Amino acid sequence: MTEGRAVKGRPIPMVDLAAQYERIRGEVDEAIARVVHSTAFIKGEDCALFESEFAAWCGVKAACGVANGTDALILCLRAYGVGPGDEVVTVANTFIATGEAILLNGARPVFVDVDPVTYTMDPAQVEAALTTRTKLILPVHLYGHPADMKPILEIAARHGLRVLEDAAQAHGAEIAGRRAGALGHAATFSFYPGKNLGAYGDAGMVVSDDAEFVARVRQIANHGGGKNKYDNVVLGTNSRLDTLQAAVLRVKLRHLEAWNRERRQRAEAYTKALADAPSVALPRERPGARSAWHLYTIRVADRDGLQDHLKAQSIAAAVHYPRPIHLQPAMSAAGGRSGMLPVSEALAREVLCLPLYPELPFEAVERVAAEVKSYCGAAVARA
Ligand SMILES: Cc1ncc(COP(=O)(O)O)c(C=O)c1O
Repeated sequence: MTEGRAVKGRPIPMVDLAAQYERIRGEVDEAIARVVHSTAFIKGEDCALFESEFAAWCGVKAACGVANGTDALILCLRAYGVGPGDEVVTVANTFIATGEAILLNGARPVFVDVDPVTYTMDPAQVEAALTTRTKLILPVHLYGHPADMKPILEIAARHGLRVLEDAAQAHGAEIAGRRAGALGHAATFSFYPGKNLGAYGDAGMVVSDDAEFVARVRQIANHGGGKNKYDNVVLGTNSRLDTLQAAVLRVKLRHLEAWNRERRQRAEAYTKALADAPSVALPRERPGARSAWHLYTIRVADRDGLQDHLKAQSIAAAVHYPRPIHLQPAMSAAGGRSGMLPVSEALAREVLCLPLYPELPFEAVERVAAEVKSYCGAAVARA
């Protein structure tokens, strides 16, 4: 038991955005001041520049900045014409936004289970989930690890379907040298502050090689606009990326590759330090795939006990996610039942994300790993 034990060392947070700001303070402050002085808060030049820079970074032809990653998904489904009566095959081991976007468009999510090693869509289950109503396949690159896109794309091609990547957590993830965003027919990103590339507020992006598709997204995201400001050609909404966020993101994009390298070094340090941890499953990369290491997620039977133990040592650890989305009341229209997705449901009970960010000191990695080992070792001895 951990209660009553002295707290050792300084608190270790899950992420430390203040430490990141300290590294780029001059550049960010200058970029923000430039936008404020220009007063071009909506559709300022940083928006278009960030779109082209991020598209180039991903290795695709076109991008459209939007208000957040949830809207990016909603807008993509609308632009693909997904609506009532349609089905979208996706996973339940994800953030709720993936499912919300489908239901909000009037379509039905059809959930398949995930692979027990990478926690991403199990391609072997996809074909059986397809029906004549299937409109789209929506894999999620969870924790920064890319879904197994090759077999998913092959199935999609056989059935004339599109594959939309939910890359909200995967800026810089790769398969065979291609980055997330360039792996499917289109992709959505979130720039929520704690993401590998995070804004100073909400922001998101749609990317694709299909420039016409991206133009449709842009039209819907900007009140269904036509050539002139007050032409409203299709039913749209307001989901624009704001200029201040674009300016901050342009600064941060210049550092993303280095930051992802630093994340990888810390992930590797965890893997080394935890190699002999009893009864702990460590994250692994599929051969040919490179994770963006958004999160370092371990799997342990007594997850809640371990989380409490770490908390007592002033170490933050987070559960992404405590309930698979097919069992969320908000998703009840999708008809999810307990027991339907055994791997996703077990993961919800057992996963724990350890602190991981580019500035995380290696001594902190060692301390977290030592606490995980001591708790799990004692648990094995107790059993
Ligand atoms: C997998 C996934 N999809 C979608 C989203 C939604 O992004 P946002 O929070 O920017 O709306 C998130 C955000 O956490 C996410 O993790």
